[in-house]
Amino acid sequence: MHHFVYKDGQLYCEEVPVSKIAGEVGTPLYLYSHATLRQHFRAFDGAFSDVPHLTCFAMKSNSNLAILRLFALEGGGADIVSGGELYRALRAGVEPKKIVYSGVGKTVEDMEYALRSEILMFNVESTQEIMLLNEIAGRLGKKAPIAIRVNPDVDPETHPYISTGLKENKFGIDIGKALEDYTLAAGLRNLRVAGVSCHIGSQLTRVSPFVDALQKLKVLIGKLRDSGIAVEYLDLGGGLGITYNKEEPPHPREYAEALKKELDEKDLIVVLEPGRVITGNAGILVTKVLYVKSTPEKKFVIVDAAMNDLIRPSLYGSFHGIEPVKLSEKQRVKADVVGPICESTDFLAKDREMVAFETGDLVAVMSAGAYGFSMSSNYNSRPRAAEVLGKGDRYYVIRARENYEDLVRGENLPDFLNV
Ligand SMILES: Cc1ncc(COP(=O)(O)O)c(C=O)c1O
Repeated sequence: MHHFVYKDGQLYCEEVPVSKIAGEVGTPLYLYSHATLRQHFRAFDGAFSDVPHLTCFAMKSNSNLAILRLFALEGGGADIVSGGELYRALRAGVEPKKIVYSGVGKTVEDMEYALRSEILMFNVESTQEIMLLNEIAGRLGKKAPIAIRVNPDVDPETHPYISTGLKENKFGIDIGKALEDYTLAAGLRNLRVAGVSCHIGSQLTRVSPFVDALQKLKVLIGKLRDSGIAVEYLDLGGGLGITYNKEEPPHPREYAEALKKELDEKDLIVVLEPGRVITGNAGILVTKVLYVKSTPEKKFVIVDAAMNDLIRPSLYGSFHGIEPVKLSEKQRVKADVVGPICESTDFLAKDREMVAFETGDLVAVMSAGAYGFSMSSNYNSRPRAAEVLGKGDRYYVIRARENYEDLVRGENLPDFLNV
């Protein structure tokens, strides 16, 4: 459910025509719906309201300050994976005690920053990281709260590039080794064992892999208890999928019910790290048709957005709906939607049936609110797109379009070239 709907043949974001925003802000632009973001957050968070829980929004999916602030005001926390994400979360007003920090490659500086910020928990992912965190915490006179991110070896049945809970993946500590590492951590002076965590992958469209992982974690928690190691938090990660095309993922309510059925430990606080399910369908990428060209093989719709703006189709072969901003009686054709970048992987849709777009038409690339702008780059020296938040009959530019000056910020000519 989202608030991008057609009224009188025009696509609207809530109560504003998308064409009006594109006309005033320019293209390409990311456009988010405030009502959709809030509704998705509440649907997810509300589904766990009868158990002690904390929803830590996975800000890698969308890290705009305004969006983080919106969820913070809803009572949410943040799942971070870098010092930069910690900085953004704190700037947006997320409470440090609602921040969990995952990631296989935390640096010394990032750990120091997070320790000083007094975050809720480090989800540690290797034995070496456990040792290093203990050392750094000792140096700062702190006791670091940790959960071991366990790799439960569960197949999430998703794209291989976004599956993270299999033995072959780089993430987490093998569940068979977790007890040994918990025992090690519990014996270290500057660590406090606070929880158990896992995250098995992204864009999961069935609940059973989540349940399988939880069952494995429960066995581990039992073993920890038998060893005298108590945990307070059970972090189940994120990963719930959305409808991009014809997928039928479970509603957050079904997902929550399936997990809660397994939760017989009433004293545990459940931590959840949803990203895509909250922001994915709450945003679109609006782009303009520059040219239409046909080769003997194919028809290409060349637009002003490219793989630097939305890399998911190039990276994962992902599907995004391609919709006209203005409905028309135009015939339907099969075409590729491509950008101006000098790579053959620069496409937003391939061999897709769509209306016969013409130069100047506006196109909505649907379901682009997660892993869209946050994965964007300046490749081909393209300034990054503007981000806009629609709310009722108003809209707000929440990130200005980059300009050419932004592109060269921080670059310097060494003396020997300054001639
Ligand atoms: C540790 C962790 N938590 C949460 C997420 C969020 O996943 P999703 O956006 O699929 O909910 C990710 C995504 O890769 C992740 O790596």
